Amino acid sequence: MLSFQRSYASDLSNPARDFLAIEGLPVSELRALIDHAERLLPAALGAAVSEERLRGRIVANIFFEDSTRTRVSFEIAAQRLGASIVNLGAGGSSASKGETLVDTACNIEAMGVDAFVVRTSISGGAALVADAVSCPVINAGDGRHEHPTQALLDLLAMKLRLGDLAGKRVAIVGDIANSRVARSATHALVALGAHVVIVGPPALVPSGFDQLARGAGSITISHDLDAILPEVDAIMTLRIQLERAAATGIAPDYRTAYGLTEHRRHRLRKGAVILHPGPVNRGVEIDDSVADDAGSSVILQQVSCGVAARMAVLLRALDR
Ligand code: NCD
Repeated sequence: MLSFQRSYASDLSNPARDFLAIEGLPVSELRALIDHAERLLPAALGAAVSEERLRGRIVANIFFEDSTRTRVSFEIAAQRLGASIVNLGAGGSSASKGETLVDTACNIEAMGVDAFVVRTSISGGAALVADAVSCPVINAGDGRHEHPTQALLDLLAMKLRLGDLAGKRVAIVGDIANSRVARSATHALVALGAHVVIVGPPALVPSGFDQLARGAGSITISHDLDAILPEVDAIMTLRIQLERAAATGIAPDYRTAYGLTEHRRHRLRKGAVILHPGPVNRGVEIDDSVADDAGSSVILQQVSCGVAARMAVLLRALDR
């Protein structure tokens, strides 16, 4: 059965076109993708006519976990490139009847799609799909593992404000334990020579996280947000991911210790950049006035960079 299915897409079979993780991605490719995304920004935002280099291609968005930004961002990226996109969620599909992610992907591939974008609560789930199908697979967030296109957009948003990231200090604050965003961003930042400061309560920072990535940069762990504020060039706050956490709720004193409050914003360096991957829990990990501060917050620019980053990844997967 599998070989029959593979025959549909045998000309597309090329594992190098999968995009499953930042870990292991050569630093030259990481740089090239960020640079390409930067060049694609005008086309991503509709200001320049896209070349529609993927006209006639079909991309399947399999989102077995909720998403607003990432799913719509891939849809817009595909459309800007002239590709069609089909959307499949867990609700309303045969996943609700017990069909596995891999079975779903194999069936969709048998209909002749050209690439998959996969979001799943299974850590390593995107690689499971990539092993089973022949066409390129892009990881749109798999459990607590990685969210590699998020790292591309985060680094592009930082680069647009800070320039070269080598030597820059970037704090990532909050629920590190459950965050694929933190893992992918840390791999990417360390590869490019940035110094990552992981900040959060001990229960939400896995021991050994400072050994996660190898590269020209470094990783340190701190449990004291106030102490690191004046030292960083960028700070990314994260949501407490209750759906991925065993914990039953947000500690009542979380904002007091780890919230990016207005008072703390004033303790940041001039020019420091504030990021958040969304969805934002306003008043918990970040105050309204900080999230909306036009001078320092790049939260909406991250979303714009996301379309360009996904265009770059779709072109890497499909353009030839
Ligand atoms: C993140 C995710 O889903 O991993 N969001 C996103 O993709 N923009 C972060 C989160 O869920 O908090």
